[in-house]
Amino acid sequence: MLRWLIAVVLVGLWLSSPIACRLYVPPEGSGPEPTTSGESSTGESATESSSGSEPVADSGTNTTTDIVPDNGGIEVPTSATALLEYLKKGSYLSWRRESAPHQTQGPHKSGSLVFINDILLASLEANNTSHPKGSIAIKELYEPDLQTKAGWAVMVKTEDASLSGKGWYWFEVFSSARGDQFIADGNGVALCTGCHQPGKDYFLTKFPLQ
Ligand code: HEC
Repeated sequence: MLRWLIAVVLVGLWLSSPIACRLYVPPEGSGPEPTTSGESSTGESATESSSGSEPVADSGTNTTTDIVPDNGGIEVPTSATALLEYLKKGSYLSWRRESAPHQTQGPHKSGSLVFINDILLASLEANNTSHPKGSIAIKELYEPDLQTKAGWAVMVKTEDASLSGKGWYWFEVFSSARGDQFIADGNGVALCTGCHQPGKDYFLTKFPLQ
């Protein structure tokens, strides 16, 4: 036992000595190093180095689902937190919109500026009674001064059918609220569909946009 221990210690000392490193490392290092050749002759050290980086790559992938998740071809996310991120980035600002913020009778703060995406635009132009999946209306909400942005109300058609308002995803948030305090976040939210039901497939704003 003692002899075995001494042997282990001696081998350990030898391995950690500079001479051993110089002698020992080159053949080991030459395996994974020429990554350009693409061939790893030393399978063991290759897996060692790749397994070392795997957990990092995994956790990275898990946390990068945020901004534009694949949403079945729909242009915006239809879950509250991701949609709020999208709205803050302002990617919809190039869409067709009303000319300027204006007073609104709805419950949507005091002022409003409506944006519609190309799918909804085409459907409204075609005078359709039902809008196809992927249609989106984004309403910027404004304070009474009509300059200070106060939040967003959004409707996204997630089905071709209207399904009594359940074919639309409804979302609303006020800027003054905490980031996770959403007034609406889901399909067929009764608070929204009640008022929007008389619209053209739930769309109320005058078209062509004013
Ligand atoms: C009390 C009635 C009422 C309720 C409740 C209501 N809205 Fe509206 N909404 C309106 C009116 C009226 C308009 C038309 C523009 C305007 O005058 O503000 C509108 C416009 C919109 C628009 C622009 C597209 C369109 O249909 O004209 C969106 C998006 C919207 N509302 C989302 C919502 C969401 C989301 C909810 C639920 C949280 C909701 N609305 C609840 C009355 C209402």
